[in-house]
Order: sequence, then C-alpha cells, then structure tokens
Amino acid sequence: MRQVIIAGNWKMHGDRAFVDSLLTELTATIPSDSKADWLIFPPFPFLAQAQQLLANTPIAVGAQNMHDNESGAFTGEVSSTMLKDLGCQYVLLGHSERRHVFGETSEFVARKVAQALKQGLIPVVCVGETLEERKAEQTEAVIQTQLAAVFAELAEPQDIGKTVIAYEPVWAIGTGEAATPELAQAVHAFIRKYIGETAPNVAQSLPILYGGSVKPANAAALFAMEDIDGGLIGGAALKATDFVEIGQCIK
Ligand code: PGA
Repeated sequence: MRQVIIAGNWKMHGDRAFVDSLLTELTATIPSDSKADWLIFPPFPFLAQAQQLLANTPIAVGAQNMHDNESGAFTGEVSSTMLKDLGCQYVLLGHSERRHVFGETSEFVARKVAQALKQGLIPVVCVGETLEERKAEQTEAVIQTQLAAVFAELAEPQDIGKTVIAYEPVWAIGTGEAATPELAQAVHAFIRKYIGETAPNVAQSLPILYGGSVKPANAAALFAMEDIDGGLIGGAALKATDFVEIGQCIK
C-alpha cells in the first residue's frame, strides 16, 4: 500500500484569524480513522502559528518554497534550515507558479530538492506541462526533463523515494478544469515508469499526487485511479468542509 496524501496549498491567502479558524475546523473534522496523511502549506508568516495549532494532531505542516542555500546574502529568501527549525516536515518545490511566474528553472528546483533532502525535509516536487506543450504533444518530454534535472542533483537515484511527486498540469491549476481521471492516470503511469527506469526499487512505493482544480465533485474519480495517490489542493483547501470532503474520497 502506497502512502496517500491530501495536501493543501494555501498559496498567498489568509491572515492570522483565518489560520486560526481554518485549522480549528480541520482538526475538529478530519476523521481520526482517515486513511490519508494530511498536510498543509501555509504562507511563511503563518508557519509557526500553524505548527502550534497542529501540535499533537495528525496534520503536518510544510512551506511553499525555499532557497537552495543554507544561509547567506539572499534577501527575501528562506532556507531549509529555517524551515527545519520551525518544525516543518515538508516543502513544496517547483510549483508551476514558481516556475512560470517567478522564472525558476528545473535546475534551480532540482538543487532545492537536493538541499531539502539534505536537511531531512520531504520535498513535494511539482511537475507538469502548459496547454501549449500538451497541444504540441510534449507532455511526457516536459515532465521527463523536469524529473531528469532532479535525478542529476540527487546523491543516489533512489533518493527520489524520499520525495513526493505532484503532477499538476498547468492548464488545470485554478481554472476549474481538472484533468480527466484517465488523462491524469496516463501521466501518473508515465511518471512512475520513467522513475522506475532510474530508481526501480522505489518507483512502486513513491506517492504521486494529482493537483489542478480538485474539488469534492471530482476527487473520488481521480483518486480511484491506480497511480494517483492523493491530491495537492489549491482553492478548495481554503474551505475546511471542501478539503475534508476531498480527503474522504480516497480509495
Ligand atoms: P487549484 O490549485 O486546486 O486551485 O487548481 C492547485 C495547486 O496550485 O496546487
């Protein structure tokens, strides 16, 4: 049985009162017998508050980004050691908004993945194609390039097994238009096969999450797919009832 993860990417939303009320509601409503591992990615200023509210609960906390250096003259950046110090277990890396809005290259993302692993953080590594790339039938090539960059930075290929992969087609993020379960499954199977060529021992047990307009209405069909091991949820993670309902849809 692979680990199943329900992760909430809050992006740049919320304030301290919002964090209080959302986390109070989540801790009260996530069933104790849930088969999923629950995880939230609040903005940096709320990480300590979230850690405090979620102490002794099964909900883990991660950051939405980090730099690849441990410290130094990098104004405005946050390091893996700082996240570790705050008690973060996970870090989201290579989200499409980081790649496409902030110009992060696959190589930069890959160096962050290696740095996160060095600190004992679990990187949730996002990969995915734009609409143009999909139309040009470049989906697999794009994802392969994104993953190959990660392999190039790992100490050992099987270290990929210490990560979580999230397939997030760029055209499905925040658009309300999720990938169909069949389309997502095909890409997830490709990702597992590609990883298996370099790291055969860990490919089968690696959690691969789907992200992009996951909602209570489409989650069950997506999570029923063989190679989809949970979701990375954006908009719907900001509403406790939706997020919990999505998490109840795991197979
Ligand atoms: P969405 O975002 O669920 O709002 O589409 C997903 C994500 O960006 O991780």
